[in-house]
Amino acid sequence: MIETPVEDLMELDALVELKRLAKEIAAHDIAYHQKDAPRVSDAEYDALRQRNDAIEALFPKFIRPDSPSKRVGAPVASGFGKVTHARPMLSLGNAFSDEDVVEYFDRIRRFLSFSANDPVEVTGEPKIDGLSVSLRYEKGEFVLAATRGDGMVGENITENMRTIADLPKIILAPNLPDVLEVRGEVYMAKADFAALNQRQEQTGGKLFANPRNAAAGSLRQLDTTITASRKLSLFVYAIGEVSGPIGKSQWAFFENLKAWGFKVNPQTKLCSDAEELIAHYNSIGEMRAGLDYDIDGMVYKVNRFDWQERLGFVSRAPRWAIAHKFPAEKAQTKLNSIDIQLGRTGVLTPVARLEPVTVGGVVVSNATLHNDDEIKRLDARVGDAVIIQRAGDVIPQIVEVLLDKRPVLSVPFKFPTQCPACGSAVVQEEGEVAKRCSGGLICTAQAVERLRHFVSRNAFDIEGLGGKHIETFWHDGLIKTPADIFRLPQKIKDSGKREGWGDQSRVNLETALEDKKNIELPRFIFALGIPRIGQATARTLSKHYGSLAGWRSAMDLAKDHASESYQDLINIDGIGSSTAADVLSFFAEAQNRAVVDDLDDLLRVQEFIAPDEGSSPVAGKTVVFTGTLETLGRSEAKAKAESLGANVAGSVSKKTDIVIAGPGAGSKLKKAEELGVQTMTEQEWIELIQNT
Ligand code: IVH
Repeated sequence: MIETPVEDLMELDALVELKRLAKEIAAHDIAYHQKDAPRVSDAEYDALRQRNDAIEALFPKFIRPDSPSKRVGAPVASGFGKVTHARPMLSLGNAFSDEDVVEYFDRIRRFLSFSANDPVEVTGEPKIDGLSVSLRYEKGEFVLAATRGDGMVGENITENMRTIADLPKIILAPNLPDVLEVRGEVYMAKADFAALNQRQEQTGGKLFANPRNAAAGSLRQLDTTITASRKLSLFVYAIGEVSGPIGKSQWAFFENLKAWGFKVNPQTKLCSDAEELIAHYNSIGEMRAGLDYDIDGMVYKVNRFDWQERLGFVSRAPRWAIAHKFPAEKAQTKLNSIDIQLGRTGVLTPVARLEPVTVGGVVVSNATLHNDDEIKRLDARVGDAVIIQRAGDVIPQIVEVLLDKRPVLSVPFKFPTQCPACGSAVVQEEGEVAKRCSGGLICTAQAVERLRHFVSRNAFDIEGLGGKHIETFWHDGLIKTPADIFRLPQKIKDSGKREGWGDQSRVNLETALEDKKNIELPRFIFALGIPRIGQATARTLSKHYGSLAGWRSAMDLAKDHASESYQDLINIDGIGSSTAADVLSFFAEAQNRAVVDDLDDLLRVQEFIAPDEGSSPVAGKTVVFTGTLETLGRSEAKAKAESLGANVAGSVSKKTDIVIAGPGAGSKLKKAEELGVQTMTEQEWIELIQNT
């Protein structure tokens, strides 16, 4: 087709052409970004856009509301949807030294009841410093991608992932499981990162601190054309949900992944002992600077899948894998001042404000000083030259003060004796390193921090309501307690005009809050911000008590240390008497009880249903192992029982349901017989749990 040169177009022609171009470019955008099937070459596409722009320049009054020049790319998705991972995305435990690696092998052998010489094969591969993603294929077709999120629920980034060339969109292979979820790391190669920053600089765009941030910023774009314009890469390394066999070992799985068209890191090696792994670690460490991507360590995984399964998980990390970190990077800078930050439990944390310095590609201007003891240990003073260290995503810390560079007039740091927020006395409990504000519920800073915690990612995770908003609303008197957060839309409305809170954002907030009124018990407990109750403990409590009402009434009874409820609480695996004391003093406070009751009225706190446990014949049973176990290791037996929903106790009582007794069982077996508790051999136990 011969096109009329733009400058020769009549008005009517221009009008018709702009309409045609808008339609055509939109269709190409969809073909390219959403269907991943471009219908024209990049050059042809660019020519269409240029023609559109040229016509618009001559006839600005005809610029259409849906003009391609107003759009950066494909239609913008309305926020990222949530994806619940079919299998949680876990994190990894860390090893920092060669001894830690040796200990990792020993632990595995102990757990599996192997002798010191039994060989255990382990794969070693670089730990890519990027973002983990889960990729789902159904019948060989790529259908879904999600970020890790909190490990349980991530964000839907399917369309963004489609723009990555390393990602196979269709897998044609015999014997591919119908459902195949693989996990891997999206990263930006160092060269692509440098090129991106150069482009950003030329166009006055934002510069990225490091390849990881650039990858994250590029992947999480609602406008997928931006993702498409950034070169991202992908390595895969783990499985999620699968409906059929994918190999019997990590190594065989890697081979399959390659055959299916995925990129697997070429520096992966199968090793048979700690020595071989450490040698591999050292050689990768030497090539680290020359690799085209950032790595922050190595990941080791027990090769055999059946052993991985036996080893299972602790909390949120597999027992069969570990990350061996490379040493942290260090730099010298100046300590400009020391600020005190207040946390939700009243802990005062000193923060070092530093002369900005680049450490491993990231500009650092703050470091944690942990506590007063740490300041004293380092003898850190304002004005000092200090060495700071940064490892991965961990907050940088000061590791050394250069005393020979100390200014003559320096004075030791004086830790405040009064809370900088409320003026209450600062106290330090026996045996604790932390200093706390004694103001409790009257301390404004603590109140704000508790509310910020309540809406934070692993707690209620309320979309569009960040810590900064909470602070402002609190200061303006709109929220005082967690339940007030759920009344915010009405309060915003009543309080008149507010910057940034028009009708639309208020409605969005209302929807987000409505959505979170249905909340899982572990999130609810975690959100309360009770000292020492982190995510793992919140889960443990949820599992034990099952429901908010159950937990609440048990805590009322457990006030009395002589009660059965108290014994029951401190007997929970992972809860000691100090954690119990924190929970009980939380409930001892009338204001806290009111907060919980108020929330209970407003929300639907779900009952806790532990995954995979419903069908097991031992779910909810209390079991005791005694004597020598001949097939299962002691910790393996315990972990397996717990994964099936049983509670493993250390001593026999009326509450015990089953005692599994091996050779040499003594007093516990006798007691079980006296109490009429069911007893069985290890073999009988294995048969009982086998088909679950
Ligand atoms: S395996 C259950 N392999 O490291 C095993 N993780 O600290 C799951 N990572 O969230 C992880 N490179 O984002 C594995 N070769 C690798 C990895 C790797 C990077 C990341 C991943 C994970 C984090 C854990």
